[in-house]
Amino acid sequence: MRYHRLGEVPAKRHVQFRRDGRLLVEEVMGYEGFSGNESILYHLVSPCRVAEVLEFTPIAREEWVPDAHVHRLTQTGPLEPEGDPVHGRRLLMWNGDVEISVCKPAQGSDVFFRDGEGDEVLFVKEGSGVLETVFGTLPFRRHDYVVIPRGTTHRFRLDDGPQTWLCFQTPGEIETPNRYRNRYGQLNEGAPFSQRDFHAPEELVTHDGPGEHVLEVRVRDGYQRFLLDYHPLDVVGWDGYVYPYTFNIHDFEPITGRVHQPPPVHQTFQGPGFVICSFCPRELDYDPMAVPLPYHHSNLQSEEMIYYVAGEFGSRKGVALESITLHPSGLPHGPQPGLVERALGARRTEELAVMCDTFRPLRLSTLARDLDDRAYALSWREGAPASETVVTG
Ligand SMILES: [Fe+2]
Repeated sequence: MRYHRLGEVPAKRHVQFRRDGRLLVEEVMGYEGFSGNESILYHLVSPCRVAEVLEFTPIAREEWVPDAHVHRLTQTGPLEPEGDPVHGRRLLMWNGDVEISVCKPAQGSDVFFRDGEGDEVLFVKEGSGVLETVFGTLPFRRHDYVVIPRGTTHRFRLDDGPQTWLCFQTPGEIETPNRYRNRYGQLNEGAPFSQRDFHAPEELVTHDGPGEHVLEVRVRDGYQRFLLDYHPLDVVGWDGYVYPYTFNIHDFEPITGRVHQPPPVHQTFQGPGFVICSFCPRELDYDPMAVPLPYHHSNLQSEEMIYYVAGEFGSRKGVALESITLHPSGLPHGPQPGLVERALGARRTEELAVMCDTFRPLRLSTLARDLDDRAYALSWREGAPASETVVTG
């Protein structure tokens, strides 16, 4: 991310900085042990201060080990709203690099939260609200990616109406792809987005005075709760390169070609061991002989999950919105029978989907088992019935 600054900061680092005579508490929040990206925040109260240490709750993951290795279709549409923006997340698949969940929060946060062991990306399939953070207030809307760096104390305020999010959590660092950044870090001219498309908090609200608030920190594979006797969003100013931001998927400028472009042209973010890609409405391959759908491909080293957001996905039939396909490593996949013939000559697609490719196998949860559509594995047979659901968007 680019340099950003909000509120008041002193002219130099690491010098006395006061507000109304009160010496402020400088906090350096950064990656890679003082050599990676960092921000410097100025607090009214020491961020170490806690009034009471509350309970620690380990994260419980219920794993499903399937009895067959096949392509899978997971229907998340029928899931009902549940919980808040953190504990309402329902884990579907994970490995050591990334956890992938869906969340349909029924209400906003009633405590403050900080992920102390991972970066988070939320894709807002539907819904909107604001993320109140130590870096300021970040509004989010439908089809935004909301990127929250580890260490960001925050709280969600949700607008009325349904909220449906696809959530990624990684112990690594979420970044834009290396190949789209020049040696200074600026996004280059070949990138499918520019700095203008990434939105940082624009309003900093500083809370002062006593109060009673619960702060929950995800750390050591669990949730540690603390009671605070002050409001944790007490930052007077900050600057740096680390902060939460939004990127709307419709600001992704698709890269198209005379013949079919490979999946990496859709890449939006990278993390260690995985990528996140955006499939957006776009003109299709324009050579008269082009086959405007993906060729069959063998994911020899990766697992590929796609979350269907809107439109009809050209290379899949019988896939409802909010469904997830998982094409695991070791098996080839491609368009189902008849779809290539049907697509020939097509000039445009309205598909909207988010893909995550991981380079290590994904484990599945018992929820993925409960939502599993077993007909999908056989859907490449000529004449096979589509899954019972249809695209409605
Ligand atoms: Fe694929």
